[in-house]
Amino acid sequence: MGWRVQAEIRLPSWPLRAKPSTQSQNPETMQTKPFGTAPLSVTPVGFGAMHFDGIDDENAVGALLNGVLDLGINLIDTARGYGRSEERIGRHIAHRRSEFVLSTKFGYGVDGVADWTYECVKLGVERALKTLRTDWIDIGHLHSCPLHVLARGEVQQALADAVQAGKLRVAAYSGENAELAHALADARIGSVQCSISLADQANLSQVPPGRGQGVLVKRALSGLAWARAERPNEDWAYCEGQYWDRWQAMGLAELLPELASDWAGASLRFAAFRPGVSSVLIGTKSLNNLKAAMDEVALGPLPDAVDGAISQRFLDCAQGNWQGIV
Ligand SMILES: NC(=O)c1ccc[n+]([C@@H]2O[C@H](COP(=O)([O-])OP(=O)(O)OC[C@H]3O[C@@H](n4cnc5c(N)ncnc54)[C@H](OP(=O)(O)O)[C@@H]3O)[C@@H](O)[C@H]2O)c1
Repeated sequence: MGWRVQAEIRLPSWPLRAKPSTQSQNPETMQTKPFGTAPLSVTPVGFGAMHFDGIDDENAVGALLNGVLDLGINLIDTARGYGRSEERIGRHIAHRRSEFVLSTKFGYGVDGVADWTYECVKLGVERALKTLRTDWIDIGHLHSCPLHVLARGEVQQALADAVQAGKLRVAAYSGENAELAHALADARIGSVQCSISLADQANLSQVPPGRGQGVLVKRALSGLAWARAERPNEDWAYCEGQYWDRWQAMGLAELLPELASDWAGASLRFAAFRPGVSSVLIGTKSLNNLKAAMDEVALGPLPDAVDGAISQRFLDCAQGNWQGIV
């Protein structure tokens, strides 16, 4: 059943932009934010290194990765599961390692050992260090493992032991909902990565975390739901399809037509300024889009009335049933 769009809420008009986003980024964007209580600070926009696997030209990949750092972004997020991503980060920017906070993910994909075991995480850290050509990883996530794995505790212990050994700086969990709650309650877990967007707000009940852990946001653009004329139903689009359904149900275009010219910008500002959020990961193959994201975040939070209307619309539509989408 589709959700009905509620009666229009009349909102005052306000300046949504202090300046056009086509200008070069505001130096303010370059200021880093504390990463929770961890001894790290990160730029409010981070680079998600998941989407560039489709680029075959190594020169283009090298230019992209170096361009990310040249823009002043100091956070790069990758994973064992992102194809050639870790290998390429090692190849193209290991020589600039002191310029960025490196985040990756483990728990699966190590030859000869079962996924989601102590040994798999331990060897996964070793493997990632070698592939990324670095002596240390700053943020090491368990990559969306289920609750029963977290309940055993061995994978968290493997991360804690890697921190103790100086191979990892922060033991982290990436995921949502009950799994996220379990991870946040574990004293060994120093930060999390979770989905937060206009159409995905369930995890906000757990952010900011009670113990002050750092928070990285993924999927902030709701799978670009506003840009799709039809629901994506391909196998790869499992999350994008759900976001499309929610987007149709929420009717934000009718509620807030003044945002319609730039939903990406509004999405980024919504996610980046939630209390406790340190950085929003943008997965792009385009330095222009990355720079646009930095410019948007430099504009600051959305006006309170807009922010409140978006939050209320989510609550009204979700009725407690829309979980965080992994
Ligand atoms: N832990 C997990 O399970 C998990 C899951 C998903 C993502 N992540 C992390 O989060 C990162 C981001 O991934 P995501 O799925 O959340 O993707 P995203 O950044 O929300 O969206 C990426 C898509 O948006 C487009 N895009 C990016 N910036 C844009 C802009 N300013 N304006 C318009 N379009 C823009 C990109 O196209 P162009 O390439 O053309 O710019 C790409 O198609 C990943 O790289 C990864 O690091 C983690």
